[in-house]
Amino acid sequence: MTTKTALLATLVLAVLACEKGGETTPPTTGGETTETPTDATAGGEGGEAKAEPGAPDVKWADKTFQQRKEWMGVEVLPKMKAMFKEYDEAQFKGFGCDTCHGADGKDKNFAMPTDSIYPLPKDDPVKAAMEYDEAVTKFMVEKVVPDMAKLLDEEPYNPETKTGTFGCFDCHPTE
Ligand code: HEC
Ligand code: HEC
Repeated sequence: MTTKTALLATLVLAVLACEKGGETTPPTTGGETTETPTDATAGGEGGEAKAEPGAPDVKWADKTFQQRKEWMGVEVLPKMKAMFKEYDEAQFKGFGCDTCHGADGKDKNFAMPTDSIYPLPKDDPVKAAMEYDEAVTKFMVEKVVPDMAKLLDEEPYNPETKTGTFGCFDCHPTE
């Protein structure tokens, strides 16, 4: 009985000692290494970069999914909502993530283009859209495409020169 208790006591002490030793060493070094790059970024970009949602210093293409989601909420949604409402207050009063991504946007991991919005013909979408509705098409060409491209660090697609990376079909499905 006594031997057993003594053994147990030693065991418990040994475990405690191990845990203590294990706890004190790594955090000191770990803490130091993670702090250095953060400080460098904060210093270079005006102090607040550390915890900014959507990582404004990271290009869209290099953002993580989480950062993209935040960027959409912090930058894309307010800017696009204001623009669409300026174009047509009544129609876009309820503008939200769904207006672009569709009601099933979340279930589809916000993959774009969405099939929830108006489909456009693959060839000459602007011409077809102009015939359908000139006002909204001009708004798309002159405001939505260039401003959205900028928010995603991309170049607006120019059908004449066939240059640029962001256009109608990054949001609209093809017919
Ligand atoms: C004006 C239209 C528009 C609105 C509003 C919008 N998005 Fe997006 N979103 C896009 C487009 C276009 C892309 C694809 C960008 C690209 O080409 O990589 C995208 C991409 C994303 C991605 C990245 C998907 C991936 O596969 O990497 C996420 C996440 C996302 N949106 C979430 C949201 C959330 C959440 C909201 C609302 C807070 C929102 N979006 C509002 C147009 C929009
Ligand atoms: C950033 C995403 C995005 C891009 C890029 C974009 N659109 Fe749109 N477009 C929308 C949204 C959102 C609507 C409104 C959806 C709705 O009516 O439910 C819309 C509406 C339209 C409509 C009216 C559809 C209807 O049902 O009345 C036309 C036409 C149109 N877009 C054409 C274009 C053309 C042409 C381009 C390229 C030059 C373009 N769009 C680029 C998001 C986009």
